[in-house]
This record gives sequence, C-alpha cells and structure tokens, in this order.
Amino acid sequence: MEKAWEGRFREPTEEFVEEFTQSVSFDKRLALYDIQQSLAHVETLQKAGILSQQEAESIKGALLKVKEKITKGEFSFRRELEDVHMNIEKALIEELGPMGGKVHTGRSRNDQVVTDLRLYLKEEINHILDLLSGLRRRLVRLAEETLEVVAPSYTHLQRAQPIRLAHYFLAYREAFLEDTDRFVNAFRRVDALALGSGAVAGVDFPLDRFFTAQKLGFRSVLRNSMHATGDRGFLLDVLYSCAVCGMHLSRLSEDLILWSSEEFGFVELPDRLCTGSSIMPQKKNPDVLELIRGKAGRLYGNLLSLLTVLKGLPMAYNRDLQEDKEPLFDSLDTLKGCLKGASLVLEGLKVREDKLRAAAGGFTLATDLANYLVGKGVPFREAHRIVGSLVAKLVEEGRSLQDVTLEDLRTFSPLFQEDVLKLLDPLVVADRRQTYGGTSKERVKEQIELAKREEGL
Ligand code: ARG
Repeated sequence: MEKAWEGRFREPTEEFVEEFTQSVSFDKRLALYDIQQSLAHVETLQKAGILSQQEAESIKGALLKVKEKITKGEFSFRRELEDVHMNIEKALIEELGPMGGKVHTGRSRNDQVVTDLRLYLKEEINHILDLLSGLRRRLVRLAEETLEVVAPSYTHLQRAQPIRLAHYFLAYREAFLEDTDRFVNAFRRVDALALGSGAVAGVDFPLDRFFTAQKLGFRSVLRNSMHATGDRGFLLDVLYSCAVCGMHLSRLSEDLILWSSEEFGFVELPDRLCTGSSIMPQKKNPDVLELIRGKAGRLYGNLLSLLTVLKGLPMAYNRDLQEDKEPLFDSLDTLKGCLKGASLVLEGLKVREDKLRAAAGGFTLATDLANYLVGKGVPFREAHRIVGSLVAKLVEEGRSLQDVTLEDLRTFSPLFQEDVLKLLDPLVVADRRQTYGGTSKERVKEQIELAKREEGL
C-alpha cells in the first residue's frame, strides 16, 4: 500500500510500526467530523482562489459519497493508512484521481485532528448536558415528592440532625448543577477553530480562517498556530469535568447502595435495575449503582493519564498527542452510561418513609435540646456538656432521646420546661433550621420553586 508520505522513504514501513502507530481503529469515530471540516476547508480553499469552483464541487461531491458510505457502514477503514484523516483522503483520491489530493492543500493532520476533536466534543458535551439536565429534573421531582418526609442526615456516617428528605435530593441537584457549569465552561473552550494553523507555523495560502470558523459554527478562532496544534488543555477541561461529575455520581450511588441494604432499608430499588446471585437465591444486588461507583475510577484514571502524557512535551505537536483519544472517548462513553444509569435508578426509586422517620429521631435531636438551654441563657458550651451527659446516661441505660421524660431532662437542668417536649419530634426540629440554605420546610420549598424555575419545570 502506497503511503501519502512515501516520497521521502527508501524502504517500506515495518508491519509492526504500521500496527503500533495506527490510530484508525479508534479515531474512526471522528470520520463524520473529518468530512464536515473538509467540506468547509474546500470552500475556504475556493474562496482563496486555490480551487476552481468545478474542483471544489467535485471534491465536495466525493466527500458526500464517502460520508454516505461511512454512515451505511460500507466504508472499510484500513490500518495501513494510519488514521481516519488518511483513510478519507485516500478514498477521495480513489474517487477523483490525483485531483482528490488537493483537499489537503494548506492543511496538516495536526490542525485537522484538533478540528475533528473540537467538532466531536461540541456534540458530545451537548449530549452530556442533556443527560445532566434530565438527572437534575428528576432530583427536583423527587424533592417535591419528599418535602414531607423526615430523614436523618449523617456526618461521619453517624446520625447527625433530622432533615426533610427533599433537602438531600436538592443537595445532589446542586452538585450536578455545578457539574453542568463545568461542562458549559469546557464547551466554551472547545468551541474554537484550529484549522488554518497548518502543522505548526500557520499556512502560506491566504485562507480566511474566520470564514472557516463561521462555516463550521465555531465561536472563535484560535489565535496561535503552535498553541492550536500542540496544546490539549481543552481536553483536560473535559476530562476533569467528567471526573468530578463521576465523583458525584459515585457518592450518590454509595448512599443508595447503603440505603437499599437491609441494615438501612431507607429505599427500595426496582427489580429491573438489579441483578441476582448465581448461588444465593435471596440476593438482589445493586450492580448498576456499584458500577457507577466503580467507574469513577476510570474517569480519574483517564484524566491522570492525559495529564501525564502532556507533561514535558516540547512545543508543539508530538505524536504522543495521539494518546489523547482513547482516554477521552472512554471518559465520554463512561460518563454517559453512568448518567443514564443514575437517572434510571432515581426514576424507579421507592422511598420507605416509615424507616426514614424511625431513624430520623432520637439522638439527632440533641443539638436542639442544647439550643433550648441556650434560649434560657445557658452558654452554648455549657448546654452542650449538659445534654452530652444526658446522652451518655441514656446510652448506658439502653434508652433513646425519643422516649425521654421531662423528669429525666430536669435532673440534668431545672431550666427544661414542658415546652421542651415538642422538640422530640424530628420534623419540628428540622423546621427550626430556617437560615438560607437550611432544611426547614419554608426554605426547602423556596429552593424547590427556584429549582423548578431554573429547570423550566
Ligand atoms: N493520528 C494523529 C493524532 O491522533 C493525527 C496527527 C498526526 N500527525 C502527524 N504529523 N503524524 O494525533
């Protein structure tokens, strides 16, 4: 097989080298973006007077033919042609004869590959933004449905203070809203034209890059040809956004895995989203959630992998940069799967109000007993000590705060009066947290309304 660059060489490439250096096995997923950019490039070449109208028309026609073959799955990518760009160029030459080779005028694979990646990423990020929006909306709906459900909150995985369960779902919605913002920022950085940068130094044909940018729908034009071809910071932004979002999905999964265990029993997962055991008949395992939790590891790995590839690379393009694609593709595929899985789980989630209520009270009310004494003029530190000794005594006696009597309380402080007993209701206690961002019914309702407006619900 003759190579596009064979003129310089005196012997054929080793087969091992062909196999080792090829990227078409994975960069073929950029094929349609490669065609899209070639169509725009041909118009830029024509505008610059480098291609006649007739030449431009026939190259565009041939590109569309190749595109059709690819979409129909009839195009055969050849590894010995190295990458997706050379495969498509070769097909044009086969179709049009030597004239097909004019498409690569004023272009290098170095600016070509970055352009493909940026076109591809704009679509991928938009897809992820859609999935994120679906997930956030589901969380808002869950919050609406669980406004009246009281639940324990945890710190150090020890019961902390009662909350309205809606507050918990809104907490994850906030996290995914921040993730969304990260992807929007990544999109803005991705949305810039590299084409017209050539291999490294720019192009010696009068190409109107702003025209190309407009044709391809890029918001801006990269301002330095070396940066445009040699840098991959924009990919790190995407990989980092995937990693952080994966971390949030992993934490949500961990909660739901714990909560669906017999020990917690706070939620039930639908059978259709669980799997069984080959040996233990009783098992219903939360595998989707476990895999989401586990896949965060790949997302971190991919980020670290590219960071490591990039460190120490001399300006500008180096073949090492070909190693950007597999981690990138893997992170995008992985994250899309995780977002889909999490949405499915949240759609089928059943909340066990009785179990949550039973776990919400008890010692979680201790802070409010201390604060009651603060209301009577006791310094907080002193109040904390008094209620702490009450808790220690109850623990020793195997009792809970839930069934404490006024007499019990008064042996620890005469300041406790009848009205303290209403603090033994976890929902009452939750509703005392009225600061902005707190879990009281009023505050949570405001946040649900705000979230609904923001989500267009
Ligand atoms: N397959 C290459 C990559 O992914 C395309 C650019 C190759 N450029 C070159 N001069 N060999 O980076």
